[in-house]
Amino acid sequence: MSIAFDVRAGDPARAATPLLIVALPSEPALPRALAALDKRYDGALSRAIRRKDFQGGKDESLLLFAPGAGPERVLLVGTGSGDAVKGLTRAATLAGRKANALGVGSAAFWAADLSDAALEGVVVGLSLGAWEFKELHTPAPAAKRKKPLSGVFVFVGDVRSAKTALAAGVAVAEGQRITRRLAMLPGNICTPEYLARTARDIGKRHRLTVKVFGRREMTRMKMGSFLAVAQATTQDPKLIVIEYKGGRRGEAPVALVGKGLCFDSGGISIKPAASMELMKFDMSGAAGVLGAMEAIARMKLRINVVALVGSTTNMLGGEAMKPGDVVRASNGKTIEIQNTDAEGRLVLADVLHYAKRYKPQAVVDAATLTGACVVALGTTTVGVMGNDQAVIDEVLAAGRRGGEVGWQLPMFEEYKELIKSDVADMRNIGWRGAGTITAALFLAEFAEGMPWVHLDVAGTAYAEGDLVVMPKGPTGTPVRTFVEFVRGRAR
Ligand code: BES
Ligand code: MN
Ligand code: ZN
Repeated sequence: MSIAFDVRAGDPARAATPLLIVALPSEPALPRALAALDKRYDGALSRAIRRKDFQGGKDESLLLFAPGAGPERVLLVGTGSGDAVKGLTRAATLAGRKANALGVGSAAFWAADLSDAALEGVVVGLSLGAWEFKELHTPAPAAKRKKPLSGVFVFVGDVRSAKTALAAGVAVAEGQRITRRLAMLPGNICTPEYLARTARDIGKRHRLTVKVFGRREMTRMKMGSFLAVAQATTQDPKLIVIEYKGGRRGEAPVALVGKGLCFDSGGISIKPAASMELMKFDMSGAAGVLGAMEAIARMKLRINVVALVGSTTNMLGGEAMKPGDVVRASNGKTIEIQNTDAEGRLVLADVLHYAKRYKPQAVVDAATLTGACVVALGTTTVGVMGNDQAVIDEVLAAGRRGGEVGWQLPMFEEYKELIKSDVADMRNIGWRGAGTITAALFLAEFAEGMPWVHLDVAGTAYAEGDLVVMPKGPTGTPVRTFVEFVRGRAR
């Protein structure tokens, strides 16, 4: 459920709320602004700090109950000792999760001297933490149902000037909600057609141009690489285009590209059965693009953006592509398919080539492209590669601002040897090593002439374990990286 956010000024001690969240840094002294609250709580806040029951560390929290009037409960959350915005965002995420679990329904949030960036982070964090995916569960009986967190107000110094940051936070939060829901939905519900419908919904909401191409149109466009992946699926593959025109007429757009594999069985090079169900998440790049478009449109950013999603499922059957097959992509290049499980790059090849018609100022793609990226960088760092160092640096900075840290891997010429084929212009896999890099080098062949950055989000889009601040499942990455990048280029 979406949370209704608002800001207000005043003394948190007087807030009539079932839960007041108070964020404090490491080894806190009780702020003057909380003196009245402490008094209402018979000095429990200052005592908790003095006795070190609460020390403000990262992921630390303490729940207190009021003996009298005012906020019914106070939840102290620690922001740690590092970067303030990052610490507050994480503390807010943990608080959102706890508030939702308590079933209080609504809450208030207080932290000292919230900057605009911090307020935005708090809103995003609370929304991230309170997010749940319950729609496929049978609802609990009404008597046992807990109230989801549905309303929060944040205490700020100046209500009027805080409204913009509040709106930005809500925009990002709503974008992430779309992304996480799509990534969580199973392959039998979230189909290429479903992604197309979601794009149309976003388009309708914000008056954007949406185009959807199917097998027929893609055949006409000679997208032999993309279509090879879609050969064994009965579902119509979709190339989804959303055009957002917030910039000057004729100004080159930023292109956001997403891998949208609604299920990846591996094809004839079939994946092992264990954890294969995770491969419903193989459309996380596409989900990130759609969520980012929702956020960008809500923020009314003054820039042109085109979203391009390539969506299908990678299945087996008598019609399926086979190892050894050679296909021709829309740019004329031939590809020897040596492993049908390296399908994401086959889809993106034709989508990246399609992006050229927009003469974009920059292209950023996101894809759950390689298991090798999870090996190299784990589950907390995005793999970043590209053909333009300045834009790569820009994307890395955007990721840092958005709390989705990336790390660049090299695209040295030497690696290109690994994707050479005996029978075609290239092959779709490399050697055992450097799998994330060879995948990116393959994509680079189709991004020629455009400043392009590739995000491998195979490890970061979906948490396979509990992350303390949020449950296992989709994380919302790379929505914030996309939004921050586009925002950084907007007028
Ligand atoms: N969608 C997968 C990548 C993936 C694997 C993401 C595991 C998260 C966890 C992709 O389509 C894939 O299967 N890649 C292969 C490439 C290989 C055949 C060169 C991989 O990583 O094993
Ligand atoms: Mn695959
Ligand atoms: Zn895949």
